[in-house]
Amino acid sequence: MLAKKIEDALNQQIKIEAESSQVYLAMASWAETEGLNGTAAFLYMHSDEERMHMMKLVKFVNERGGKAEIPMLAQPPKSWSGIQEVFESLLEHETKVTAEINNVVDICLSEKDYTTHNFMQWYVSEQIEEEALARTILDKLSLIGNDKGGLYLFDRDLEGMHSLEEEA
Ligand code: FEO
Repeated sequence: MLAKKIEDALNQQIKIEAESSQVYLAMASWAETEGLNGTAAFLYMHSDEERMHMMKLVKFVNERGGKAEIPMLAQPPKSWSGIQEVFESLLEHETKVTAEINNVVDICLSEKDYTTHNFMQWYVSEQIEEEALARTILDKLSLIGNDKGGLYLFDRDLEGMHSLEEEA
């Protein structure tokens, strides 16, 4: 049985993952309308991954005798000044998510809930990967600068990254 404090923290995390999925879906849709099809494919996939993160939590809370809450979500932004801003906000968002996950881990330790602590380790590792990926993408973008040819190739590369992750 989940302690109330743990259940609340996990429900808060369900909301954060759902918001992530919604924000990346908005970014993907924006990128698609800007003709950035590779970027859009990458972000659609990323949005799906966040939904999977949310679903994993929903199932865990219910299986452990708690009640998962499906949250109401805020309207995400509709547009960005460019691809750079998209990935800057993505990294900023992921950094906040990491802090929230660390907070859940702290609560697990203070409540001596080692089962949930163990479950949360998957999210801890996932965050390391996601932040590293966002930083790699931003490094590439800063190398490209305003070079249109470079941007074209970058967009094509991101589409490749998307299919690589799907195969993994
Ligand atoms: Fe599920 Fe990107 O955190």
